[in-house]
Formats: sequence, structure tokens, C-alpha cells
Amino acid sequence: MFEVDHVTRTFGRRKSETAVQALDDVTLDIKSGDRLGIVGESGSGKTTLVRLLAGLDSPTAGEVRFQGARLDRRDPHTLARLRASVQMVFQDPRSSLDPRMKVGQIVTEPLRSRRLRQTGAIPTDPKTRLAEVLDQVGLPAAAAALYPHEFSGGQRQRIAIARALAPNPDILLADEPVSALDVSVRAQVLNLITDLVTTMHLTLVLVSHDLAVIRHLCDQVVVLQHGRIVEQGSADAVYSHPQAAYTKSLLAAVPRLPD
Ligand SMILES: Nc1ncnc2c1ncn2[C@@H]1O[C@H](COP(=O)(O)OP(=O)(O)OP(=O)(O)O)[C@@H](O)[C@H]1O
Ligand SMILES: [Mg+2]
Repeated sequence: MFEVDHVTRTFGRRKSETAVQALDDVTLDIKSGDRLGIVGESGSGKTTLVRLLAGLDSPTAGEVRFQGARLDRRDPHTLARLRASVQMVFQDPRSSLDPRMKVGQIVTEPLRSRRLRQTGAIPTDPKTRLAEVLDQVGLPAAAAALYPHEFSGGQRQRIAIARALAPNPDILLADEPVSALDVSVRAQVLNLITDLVTTMHLTLVLVSHDLAVIRHLCDQVVVLQHGRIVEQGSADAVYSHPQAAYTKSLLAAVPRLPD
């Protein structure tokens, strides 16, 4: 699905001392059906990596390929295919949902994109799809007529998830989807994501600084430190036999979710 090939992303002037190497020679394959967790401390490059996968940003060096085609922000054709298959859920639903739009409008907005329609990937009509996805994320049909501020944080993230699912994507990118939420609703939202990934056969890329969350949802893990991959492999192997000292320190620092 995705090949990240020796990707470097530098912010700021390239050779100046203030430049930040957010990603440094990252190489990674994401295959259909993978549930990949990306873990690392704050500033390790996690968001930068998922933004590249989402086509929201471009590498400074190296390339990202989607279904074999190089992602290039100036190539509308490949980007349209990406937008039809890849959807993203962001960390904070307060900033990712437009407060002036009703939920019905927010959720169906991706369905109105002309580019998406041209790919022919749009499922059924927007109204039917809206009802379907609200039901899938556990919100009542009446939610469509309300504004985001009329919902709790957990419900708002459900709205954001409904919006991501509306175009029937193959791949879900989730960047810290529960870290802005109240602790009491995190497990519900994570369980919802797990259920949806299973029933819709989605490929999942989940960013979290929390290894317990990744353990709960993912079968593959990539550990980033200072923009470099210091460890990658199956979740079982990484958890039971971490190789990198950094991974060991992450594992030691994080309490595990009870099974
Ligand atoms: N648009 C930008 N302009 C300048 N620097 C940036 C930009 N985006 C990211 N960076 C820098 O790149 C590095 C990696 O940032 P990134 O947001 O990818 O980290 P992260 O792992 O997602 O961190 P967090 O866990 O805090 O979300 C950081 O040093 C950050 O300050
Ligand atoms: Mg981040």
C-alpha cells in the first residue's frame, strides 16, 4: 500500500543550525491489512510521518509511494486516488471539526469532493451514507442536525471517525486519536476503532506515545526516536524482546492496560 523509501523531512533552512530533522532516512513498508503502530516520545517525528502518508506534506529527500506510484503534491491524479482510499483522524476533535457546520454537513463533506467523485469511489448517496456511518460510530441519527459543540469530547471524536469512514476508505490514519479525550472515554473510542478496522477490513496506522494503546490495537510496531526508526517488527516481538535500549526504556516507563 505504502512504501516509505529513505525519507527525510527537514523543517527550516536546510543547512542552517536551526533546521530540524523531523524524519531522518526512514524506510518502511505498509501492507494491506497491517495494523501499524508508530510510537515515540514527543518530537520524534510521528505526526510528520503520518502527514506524509496522508499527502499533506512532502519529503525533503526520498519518496513515499502509494500503490506503487510516487506521491507528489503536484500530481492531482495520484493524490485523488490517495484521498479516495486514505482518511485521517486527528488528535483533537475540537480543532478538526468546523464549529460552524452541522454534523451532517461535516460527515458528508468528503463525499462532495469533485475529485473523489471522479474516482468513482463514492458509496451510495450522501444521506444514506450519513445514516450508515452515524450508526456505525454509535451516534443517533438526530446528531446530524446538531453542531459539534453540542457533543462531549468522546462523541466529537466519533463524529470525526464517522467523517473519515464516510468515503469508505481502505486505510485509516489516526494520530493520537484519544490523547485529547477524557480518560474515562478513551477505551470506548479505542474499542470503536478496533471494531471498525475489523469489520471494514481497514489498514490502520495508529500514532501514539502510549505503548499500551498500541499494544491493544496493532500487530506491527515502529519505534521512532529523533526522526529515526530505532526498532520495528511484530508487536509481539517488540513487546517481548525489545532490541533497542530506547524501546526498553519506553516499555519500562509505561504501565500496561489490563487484558
Ligand atoms: N511545520 C513545522 N515546522 C517546523 N518544525 C516542525 C514542523 N512540524 C514538525 N516540526 C518539528 O519536527 C519535529 C517532529 O515533530 P512531530 O510533530 O512529527 O513530532 P511528534 O512525534 O508527532 O510529537 P508529539 O508526540 O508531540 O505530537 C519536532 O522537533 C517539531 O518541532
Ligand atoms: Mg504528533
